[in-house]
Amino acid sequence: MKTTCLRACHPPPLLLHSRTCHTIPHFLSPPAWQPLQSPPLSSTKRLMARAPNATTTTTNDARMLREGIAEFYDESSSLWEDIWGDHMHHGYYNPDSSVSVSDHRAAQVRMIEEALRFAAVSGWVFYTIFNFSLEEPSEKPERVVDVGCGIGGSSRYISRKFGANCQGITLSPVQAQRANALAAAEGLADQVSFQVADALEQPFPDGQFDLVWSMESGEHMPDKKKFVSELVRVAAPGATIIIVTWCHRDLASSEQSLQQWEKELLNKICNAYYLPAWCSTADYVELLQSLSLQDIKAADWSQYVAPFWPAVICSALTWKGLTSLLRSGLKTIKGAFAMPLMIEGYKKGLIKFSIITCRKPRDSENGGKKQWQ
Ligand SMILES: C[S@@+](CC[C@H](N)C(=O)[O-])C[C@H]1O[C@@H](n2cnc3c(N)ncnc32)[C@H](O)[C@@H]1O
Repeated sequence: MKTTCLRACHPPPLLLHSRTCHTIPHFLSPPAWQPLQSPPLSSTKRLMARAPNATTTTTNDARMLREGIAEFYDESSSLWEDIWGDHMHHGYYNPDSSVSVSDHRAAQVRMIEEALRFAAVSGWVFYTIFNFSLEEPSEKPERVVDVGCGIGGSSRYISRKFGANCQGITLSPVQAQRANALAAAEGLADQVSFQVADALEQPFPDGQFDLVWSMESGEHMPDKKKFVSELVRVAAPGATIIIVTWCHRDLASSEQSLQQWEKELLNKICNAYYLPAWCSTADYVELLQSLSLQDIKAADWSQYVAPFWPAVICSALTWKGLTSLLRSGLKTIKGAFAMPLMIEGYKKGLIKFSIITCRKPRDSENGGKKQWQ
């Protein structure tokens, strides 16, 4: 059976899934961070992008990756906030219109709105009866976890929008501190809070949240299976899970792995942004299917984010951008040099900006069985 991607402009393309898969390819749960390597052939033909110089992964690699991510965001977050504000993610743009500079922050907020809408967490349900379009309030999320929260922009936005309580986790102590300070300054300290914690071992009991939100953090996770299992574990029965993340293109059925040039390009990006091996959107979908999640939807939003990286480069080339960059530190400068590689990856169809959403079954829908632990 097949996973089919329908391409259209508006609304964004949906992946339709008719396959149920209960076995997880081994590469979705590597033991730790894998600096990219040549992949062993997989019978599933879905391989993550790996460069030629990999060694056996160890918990030491995982620790080094976590430390690298923490230091990278400790170092770069205030520069980013200074220039781009409190959202550390791509903007969502209308592909048919030209973008004014002031539109970028609005586009980042639009990204949150579009992700919520795609997952039908808009606070409203729309339906049509006899040609009449009707809308009525839907259940709003009350308890939200923001996995890989940055300085908490999504949490504060979602908290205000729905009156929800949000808890965010990040690896960066600087980000957690800044996120809490901003929440306090905006009068949200009672509703949102942030702490340093690993998304792969979340400090929350099972079934806590009715919205599980991961905006551009999945690409940092060295063990995608563990990442997804943790998102599902902390979700309450009936909760919505939203993953917006960088993926590599889906492999064709005739392919065993990405091409060599593709692995090399991803490898350079990984080195600059503290990323482990990448996976495809189809890999995420397969993981969610294997955990018996419901209403699984995915889309490629690459065309809607296209103006983002050129805009980031332009902002770095201003006087303020350049001077701030020089003051920020080596990790941030290295990240800046990798920005054109992201544009190249998108242009060549290698990098996909993906949204994947699903719903955790209620116990009654699941025969009372927990299949996600
Ligand atoms: C590109 S930023 C996105 C921040 C935020 N979601 C936003 O949209 O503004 C990536 C975030 O993922 C976090 N992150 C990466 N790996 C993580 C992990 N293993 N556990 C928790 N957070 C992680 C980083 O600390 C950082 O806050």
